Amino acid sequence: MNALEAKVKGRIEREGPLTFEAFLDVVLYDEEEGYYKEGKRLRKDYYTSPEIHPVFGKTIGAYIENIRVSCGRDKVTVIELGGGSGLLADQIVSGGARRDSLDYFVVERGRKKKADHIVWVSDILDLAPRKGLTVVLANEFFDALPFHRLVRTDDGLEEIYVDFSDGFVEVSGPLSPPVDAFLRSYPLALNPHQSSEVTTRAAQVLTRLNGIVDEGLLLVLDYGYHTEDLAYGRFFDGSAIGYKDFMIREELTSDLGSIDITHHVNFDHLGAVLGGLGWRKAGEIEQYRFLLNIGILEQMILLPDGERTSPKMLINPQGLGSMISVLGFTKNLSCDVAGFGSKNSFREAE
Ligand SMILES: C[S@@+](CC[C@H](N)C(=O)[O-])C[C@H]1O[C@@H](n2cnc3c(N)ncnc32)[C@H](O)[C@@H]1O
Repeated sequence: MNALEAKVKGRIEREGPLTFEAFLDVVLYDEEEGYYKEGKRLRKDYYTSPEIHPVFGKTIGAYIENIRVSCGRDKVTVIELGGGSGLLADQIVSGGARRDSLDYFVVERGRKKKADHIVWVSDILDLAPRKGLTVVLANEFFDALPFHRLVRTDDGLEEIYVDFSDGFVEVSGPLSPPVDAFLRSYPLALNPHQSSEVTTRAAQVLTRLNGIVDEGLLLVLDYGYHTEDLAYGRFFDGSAIGYKDFMIREELTSDLGSIDITHHVNFDHLGAVLGGLGWRKAGEIEQYRFLLNIGILEQMILLPDGERTSPKMLINPQGLGSMISVLGFTKNLSCDVAGFGSKNSFREAE
């Protein structure tokens, strides 16, 4: 048993079975041993889009600059949630945007990095409210938040807890108070014996964000689904999954601290929380269509011939390009937000 596993066991001995959220709080975010103690480290167990090729961040950077110009503003603030290694921030800041028109903040729970022109904070609450145009980026942020797990048994919805007896085991029991309260506002319909995740933490993050952003756009780029998908049996056993050394791990209670544990985001819950805070949905589209719409091909054309294979992964409709969705939500924004139309950029240009 490693030191992190001993910590989890000790907590269970003191407090009783842990909700999955409490379990993940330790295994992912323990400051000494948690998987994300340094934030997302470069290319460890899985790739994110900025790790695939810098053209990803350059394209998003050009998009943000276009929004600033088309909204007629001198400045734009970017707040990046869960900035990990800082790769996306570097790609955006070193891209086309004018330095004096961009204030860039990274919110990252892991250890702080040092970077010119980028301010790192460990909690959204460390940010002062921003006036003027703000673009919030959340690339694979919500899927990394600790989540609860539920199952619909013959007796109704129950929560899955982590207990210890000769090893970590999963046991079901009554809903914990935060989940019970969350489901009263944001219901979850599951088929008999279907399980799923509930991410109450997302509502806290979004409520804090809402207190900071006066006017702007939130771009969520993530793996996710809608209630309808659950009704048709997608993720019948839930979407929680582990990654280690680029391989999928279904067993989530061993090798703690060295496997990433993630889940798909319930986009309906996210939208409902934001709707309740007064944000409007600007659109939802697969990542490959979004990137094509906002000009990734123009960036790729500038690359040397041999360097176009990796960026093609970002827009591969048979892979990452359609597995990740892009959702846009706006608050008090009077100018139009591009990227979510059905036509791609070269068709529009014709
Ligand atoms: C899946 S990684 C994605 C990293 C980066 N966005 C990328 O695309 O490479 C999720 C990141 O979110 C960070 N994170 C999770 N919860 C957080 C929170 N409440 N506040 C700030 N950062 C958080 C993690 O430490 C991790 O670096």
